[in-house]
Amino acid sequence: MPVIVRTVADLRAHTRAWRAAGEVIGVVPTMGALHDGHLSLARAARRDCDRVITTIFVNPMQFNNPDDLLKYPRTEEADAALLATVPVDLIFAPAPEEVYPEGFKTVVSVAGVSEPLEGRMRPGHFDGVATVVTKLFGMTLADRGYFGQKDWQQLQVVLRLVRDLNMAVQIVGCETIREADGLAMSSRNVRLTAAGRAKAGVLYAAITAAAEDIRAGQSDRMAIREAAEAIRAAGFERVEYIELRDAATLMPSDDPASPRRMLAAVWLDGVRLIDNIPV
Ligand code: PAJ
Repeated sequence: MPVIVRTVADLRAHTRAWRAAGEVIGVVPTMGALHDGHLSLARAARRDCDRVITTIFVNPMQFNNPDDLLKYPRTEEADAALLATVPVDLIFAPAPEEVYPEGFKTVVSVAGVSEPLEGRMRPGHFDGVATVVTKLFGMTLADRGYFGQKDWQQLQVVLRLVRDLNMAVQIVGCETIREADGLAMSSRNVRLTAAGRAKAGVLYAAITAAAEDIRAGQSDRMAIREAAEAIRAAGFERVEYIELRDAATLMPSDDPASPRRMLAAVWLDGVRLIDNIPV
């Protein structure tokens, strides 16, 4: 089993020794409730790095809804067993007071890329992410940080953060791991009913079809409208957004020559699902 460490002092004792020995350290930040998507990041880190740390911390600062924070699944024993199969070297699972001690006052805020889409729907969310990711890099002294493309906007926020603050961490963006029907793996998927789960693959199918139509010359707006209609027709309650954006800045982009990303957030069975693909 990987060693489980709760304090920054203990963590640093390990990482200082590793660095002194010239070892490359990879960190995989998570909030636990691990599935194969998370494990794929840990496996990528295992391939690239001498030492792999997975952090498990349900970060209160990035939740805008206190109820959501309370309800977030906590499955540390099962998570540790999964991480042992990779295997990772160390699990850092601090208490909230260890990360945000009395008197904590600093907020890291990445303007621009944090603002549209998820940023508009979840005010303060990306400040919470940027702050905790900055802290986790500082705590772990990692050389490389692994993030999923599943949360595309988060990945762009972290890339901007690291560039803007000259952090000596190389960010690796890993492909989205999907179920057989295309549904992106997420800890929220277990909250779908059997009927909802049976339809959930329509989200990926619809945005994939739209991206293909756009590449074939259809207008962006028409392709997106058809995707939204297909999703509603399948019985999803709501299409919150389907947007075609510049892949790095997340600003609207109608330039097919530059890398673009189609991003979507929809509601099914009272569960909010997000996904994104290249266009
Ligand atoms: P969490 O939702 O636990 O996700 C941890 C990492 O796993 C993120 O980088 C996320 O993009 C990646 N991930 C989730 N599902 C994936 C999938 N199906 N395929 C590939 N990667 C996937 O994202 C967070 O936690 C937090 O915001 C965090 C970065 C830990 C900061 O608190």
